[in-house]
Amino acid sequence: MPDLFSPYTLKGVTLRNRIAMSPMTMYRSTDGLMSDFHVMLLGSRAAGGFGLVFPEQMAIVPEGRTSISCGGIYDDSQIEGLARVASIIKAMGAVPAIQLGHTGRKGSELKPWQGKTQLAPDHPDGWQVVGPSAIPYGGRYTYPVHALTRDEIKAIHRSYARAARRALEAGFEWLEMHYAHGYLGASFFSPLANKRTDEYGGSLENRVRFHLEALDAVREVWPERLPLTMRLGADDLHDEGVQFDDAVVAVAMMKQHGLDLADLSMGFNTDAMKAPPFAELAFMVERATRVRREVGIPVGVSWNLGVPELADRVIREELIDLVMLGRPALSNPHWPVWAARELGHSDPFSLVPEDWGWWLRNFRAHESCIGWPVVEESAKRETNAA
Ligand SMILES: Cc1cc2nc3c(=O)[nH]c(=O)nc-3n(C[C@H](O)[C@H](O)[C@H](O)COP(=O)(O)O)c2cc1C
Repeated sequence: MPDLFSPYTLKGVTLRNRIAMSPMTMYRSTDGLMSDFHVMLLGSRAAGGFGLVFPEQMAIVPEGRTSISCGGIYDDSQIEGLARVASIIKAMGAVPAIQLGHTGRKGSELKPWQGKTQLAPDHPDGWQVVGPSAIPYGGRYTYPVHALTRDEIKAIHRSYARAARRALEAGFEWLEMHYAHGYLGASFFSPLANKRTDEYGGSLENRVRFHLEALDAVREVWPERLPLTMRLGADDLHDEGVQFDDAVVAVAMMKQHGLDLADLSMGFNTDAMKAPPFAELAFMVERATRVRREVGIPVGVSWNLGVPELADRVIREELIDLVMLGRPALSNPHWPVWAARELGHSDPFSLVPEDWGWWLRNFRAHESCIGWPVVEESAKRETNAA
């Protein structure tokens, strides 16, 4: 039986445990570039014991960013910074993952702490946003949306493929496409945003065509030995939006197009959600388990899994394959070590790099003076850690 600390192999890649740092947009880039900030943020989480580490969503074109301060992978000049990030993650024992995305009709924003409103297309820091149909999201996203032509859709797939090539060159070993959270892929999947009458709209088969074509384009450059995954907007929590049953069928189709793992998340294609469950623990797990069992594909999930006992249980009970942590990873760089201690792991410092862990295991201090609450001997247990 696996547990949270068991190694996990997908295709030719083995993670040292089942804990991933989920992608989080930091609004700290200039010209889409990674900087010392990103090396610090992601390197520290890798050193803190996460098995898989994602930087923020990287935009495949400049107008695919959330704001002008967001990361990008649309130009070869961005490879060097990305390579620094991949390199420190690897040096600290984790696997470097990358999330490619396009924000679609939710782009052209101000930073959250500056008001998070959408900027007009003619604002110096804004741009014309795009989507499957000319339907603004509403709420704080008020500006007109350009409905993509077929040629523009094909160009976006080519941009995904070019971005994947850059990710490979930078040293990333796990690639996720971001098709959730109301961004471009999510809006193609959602009848709330997609009212097209061509082969990209209408039926479920048509609404998932954008995803399948993108997977095909990326797989042409992304090697078979490396995992290709997708974060899918699997539920809009709205009667006229994406229903979870649609997502189960869509993931089965994606599996035929080379998808190796499904990361199930929310559609976020509308603010008018029915009973949003955001205060509930582990609220995506049950849905993900259904995909895992019915489609026969590994699944990763985020959303309120930062309680160690819960994160461990969803792996032990084989409900999901990978625990993805967003806010817990932001607030505690050593979440895996903390969780290991809370769970009574017999050797929590085996999770950090060997040389670093050596000091903590061998240069013994008083148990209460190493920066963590004391764990009673009786609470310790054997794990499947490598
Ligand atoms: C500051 C912040 C930025 C985020 N940016 C992204 C992103 O770039 N891509 C993405 O797929 N999800 C993004 N998310 C969502 C997280 O990856 C994660 O799915 C979500 O926070 C739920 O997990 P949690 O309960 O562990 O925080 C972001 C979340 C936060 C808090």
